[in-house]
Amino acid sequence: MAEPIKNPSILLIVGGGIAAYKSLELIRLLRAAEVEVRVVLTKAGAQFVTPLSLASLSGNKVYEDLFSLTDETEMGHIELSRQADLVVMAPATADLLAKAAQGHANDLASTLLLASDKTALAAPAMNWRMFTHPATQRNLARLRTDGMFFIGPNDGAMACGEFGPGRMAEPVEIFDAIQTALNRTKRTDLHDELCQDLAGRKMIITAGPTHEPIDPVRYLANRSSGKQGYAIARAAQAAGAEVVLISGPVSLVAPPGVGFVGVETAREMAAAVEVALPCDIFIAAAAVADWRVEADSDQKIKKGSEGPPLLRLTENPDILAGVARRVENRPPLVVGFAAETENLIEHARQKRMRKGCDVIVANDVSPAAGVMGGDDNTMVIVDAESETVWPKLSKEDAARRLVAHLGRILAKRS
Ligand code: CTP
Repeated sequence: MAEPIKNPSILLIVGGGIAAYKSLELIRLLRAAEVEVRVVLTKAGAQFVTPLSLASLSGNKVYEDLFSLTDETEMGHIELSRQADLVVMAPATADLLAKAAQGHANDLASTLLLASDKTALAAPAMNWRMFTHPATQRNLARLRTDGMFFIGPNDGAMACGEFGPGRMAEPVEIFDAIQTALNRTKRTDLHDELCQDLAGRKMIITAGPTHEPIDPVRYLANRSSGKQGYAIARAAQAAGAEVVLISGPVSLVAPPGVGFVGVETAREMAAAVEVALPCDIFIAAAAVADWRVEADSDQKIKKGSEGPPLLRLTENPDILAGVARRVENRPPLVVGFAAETENLIEHARQKRMRKGCDVIVANDVSPAAGVMGGDDNTMVIVDAESETVWPKLSKEDAARRLVAHLGRILAKRS
């Protein structure tokens, strides 16, 4: 592995798309990580964000014109691309990508791309019809062959009110890809690590709570909403994986295109996992009940003169540990969640060892954190080498980031 670049510097080309506002957040993340950012703003980009916002956040002058006398005397445009360790296009519009694929040099952005021999990373952003158009697909294929790297686009709701592939990757995803690119100098390594394509990979994901019957009308349960597991299933499917989602009772709709198995109890969930195996990545996002009632009643338990019934509990099978400790068909990547209310990282570390899984995603589920049932999540990724705290993200963004992260680990291992 190559040494990370010291004091890295990025040339960020901001194209003309509604997603340009996300580039402001990207610059903020890069600056916080002490990455130097110089921004080139296209004419169309300036319709969406102002040079003043970009200059304030990056702390550097923003470049807009190819034939600016002042810019050329300060720093020639060729120098601008030479100074950077990495060229990033975000948003990379259909037009910018077409120009780059054709080798045009009729404005500052296209000229810099042509004049640069640095690694280039593009975050495409456009309407899904434009993205799936054969012309854009041809340009993307051409650029890939020429050595350009891509992050996203994601599937999702678009500013134009439509839904589909073309939504720019989230700032944290682009930030991660930039970090990966800066930490690698070998293009082959970079290709493997930025490859988020999970096509041909199978993922099994458990989600939601389990309900453990007391009698035909009562059960033991927990507050899991299933939102995080469902978001992971959607993100994995968008990344091209074949997904089997095994879910306890929740009030969510199964994502279209995902293999879905609905279960009630921990034992049913364990049996469904057994049927769905083998797979490449197993993610246990379910909040499986640790205990069930040893002898649940066939009939509704009636109030009686003996007072309230005593419920004797017995332990449920540990589905995650069972998959992680398999000798045959152990998935190459086994991922668990650790829901903790105190000593988050220490408990997560111990849980990873105890369960024998490769990665633990730790969550603070104390009521103050609002993770259980809420829309946001702060994930801490614990693996054999390290613990990494991710920023607070929506469960959708956290899911996409997690899927991309796991895709990279899998690509490295196989
Ligand atoms: N898990 C599982 N089967 C169980 C219990 C938990 O597959 N019977 C999985 C969960 O899906 C999660 C991980 O194990 O990925 C950790 O769950 P958690 O409830 O945090 O851990 P516990 O095993 O209950 O441990 P503790 O009692 O120490 O919290």
